[in-house]
Amino acid sequence: MTITPLGPGIGAEIGGVDLSCGVSLTVFRDIHQAFLDHMVLVFRNQSVEPRSQVDFTELFGAVEPHPLRSRRSHDEHPGVFIIENRPGKPSARNDFWHSDISFNETPPQLSILHAVVALEGKGDTLFANMYAAYESLPDELRRSLLTMQAEHSAARLARRNEKSPATDGKQIQHVPLPVEHPVVRTHPESGRRALYVNPYFTSCIVGMEKKESAQLLTLLNIHATRKENIYQHAWRSGDLVMWDNRCTMHYAVYDYDDTMPRLMHRTTAAGDRPT
Ligand code: OGA
Ligand code: MN
Repeated sequence: MTITPLGPGIGAEIGGVDLSCGVSLTVFRDIHQAFLDHMVLVFRNQSVEPRSQVDFTELFGAVEPHPLRSRRSHDEHPGVFIIENRPGKPSARNDFWHSDISFNETPPQLSILHAVVALEGKGDTLFANMYAAYESLPDELRRSLLTMQAEHSAARLARRNEKSPATDGKQIQHVPLPVEHPVVRTHPESGRRALYVNPYFTSCIVGMEKKESAQLLTLLNIHATRKENIYQHAWRSGDLVMWDNRCTMHYAVYDYDDTMPRLMHRTTAAGDRPT
């Protein structure tokens, strides 16, 4: 197995591993360590079937269907969520910074996206290093963030899904209630602190005046998404990319339209309640 760093302290390409037929315990341990070290792992030229993607994801944690249940999943594997863009059915947009499903009490620790059909040169995904985002803040601000909680809500995502042609305007049955998470979380495996707010799901800082809260969240987002903090992934068909939702945010560039077919399979592995 080879590990080649890709971005500025975030992202690495893993070579010499075929995920289509299961990995040994030793290889799993190496992948796991590389994942903790690099936050985003890229495996090229993988022809993984949905079943193998589920098996690989389950090495890390339970595969769960999307909590809003308004999106299409694979017929035989409800844990495989289909992101498809095709004529007349543009995919739901993800061109906003977020950490997947942070509005859940226990958000997924990681997400895995397999590009079955990629749009080469278009539809890149950007990943931000939230350890570095936290560590590079001024001392005093860092200290004050340590005692803050933020509210995360699915309301915006539910509204987006209802309006999206990808869901045929289907109403969301169960929009989970907002939850509170610490603004700075401690990664349960690395023990490192990471900033854990994102502009899409984080609605406010608990107990802070509305305007002040909005200003602080904007400032933190600008800080977290500075260029030197980002790995930008240019997709090729066959890429499998996994990212750590506990210490990264991501943003899917929407620079294509429904005439350009794109098909991705996504799985997530269950995580802990942020602390
Ligand atoms: C996701 C997501 C990005 C993309 O699957 O969580 O944000 O590139 N998708 O489609
Ligand atoms: Mn996402």
